[in-house]
Amino acid sequence: MPPLGARLNSVASFVPRGAVVADIGSDHGFLPVRLVATGVCARCVATDSREDPLEATRRTVEAYGLTHRIDLRLGNGLEVLFPGETTVVVMAGIGGRTIAALLSGGVEVARSQEMLILQPMTEAAAVRKWAMSNDIAVSGEDIAAEGERLYQVICLDPRSPWRERVAPDDVRLEIGLTLLRDRHPLVKPLVLRMLSECDSVMAEMADRIRMDDPRFRRWRDRSLQLEGVLRWL
Ligand SMILES: C[S@@+](CC[C@H](N)C(=O)[O-])C[C@H]1O[C@@H](n2cnc3c(N)ncnc32)[C@H](O)[C@@H]1O
Repeated sequence: MPPLGARLNSVASFVPRGAVVADIGSDHGFLPVRLVATGVCARCVATDSREDPLEATRRTVEAYGLTHRIDLRLGNGLEVLFPGETTVVVMAGIGGRTIAALLSGGVEVARSQEMLILQPMTEAAAVRKWAMSNDIAVSGEDIAAEGERLYQVICLDPRSPWRERVAPDDVRLEIGLTLLRDRHPLVKPLVLRMLSECDSVMAEMADRIRMDDPRFRRWRDRSLQLEGVLRWL
C-alpha cells in the first residue's frame, strides 16, 4: 500500500465510504490508490495539470493494478470534471489561494459535490474566505503534524450554507473556527507558530521602519489578536 503520512491520512479520514473522489493535483497518486485499494471508493478520478506528475500517478495506479478503477485526466483544476460525475473533490498539497481560484473557476462542479476536502499548504484563510463568500459551510477541520510541520485540512459541504453569524477576523479565518471551538490538540502549537512568525517579521522590520508605519502596525495588530486567541485557549 502506498504511504500516506499524517497529512494525507487526515485527508483520507474525511472521505465517506462509497464516495466517487476526484483528486485534483494527484501527483504520485497515493491517495486515490489507497482509497480504492482499501475499498473506501469503488472508483476515483486522478488529475494533474502537468504531464510528469500525471505519469507518476499512472505508474502508481498500474503498480497496484487499478487502471480499471482510477481514471486519469490531464488538465487545469475542475475543468476536467462534469458536474455530478464525482461526489467528493480533494485538493491537497496546493496553496490556499490557488485552491480558492480553482474552486471559483469550476464553481458549478464544486457545488455539485457532496464534499470538498481541501488541504492548503499556505494561506488557509483564502479557502475559508472562499467558503464564506460562496455561502458554503465548513463541515469539518483537522490539523495534522508531519515532522516539524503542521497542515490544515478543511472540509466543506456545498449543500449547506456558511454557519457563522458573525464574520470572523483574518486571524480566526486562518486558524479555523471549528478547530478553535473544539480546542483541537494542535491548535495551540499552530497559534504559537503564527505568533513566532509575527515576532520574527516585526524584529526584522524594527531595523528598517518606524513603529507607526502601517506595515508594522498590521503585524502588531495580528500579534495582539493571536495573543488574545492564546489567552482564550
Ligand atoms: C505538491 S503536489 C501535491 C500532490 C498530492 N495532492 C499531495 O497532497 O501529496 C501538487 C500537485 O498539484 C498539481 N497542480 C498544481 N496546480 C494545478 C491545477 N491548476 N490543476 C491541477 N493540478 C495542479 C501539481 O502539478 C502537482 O502535481
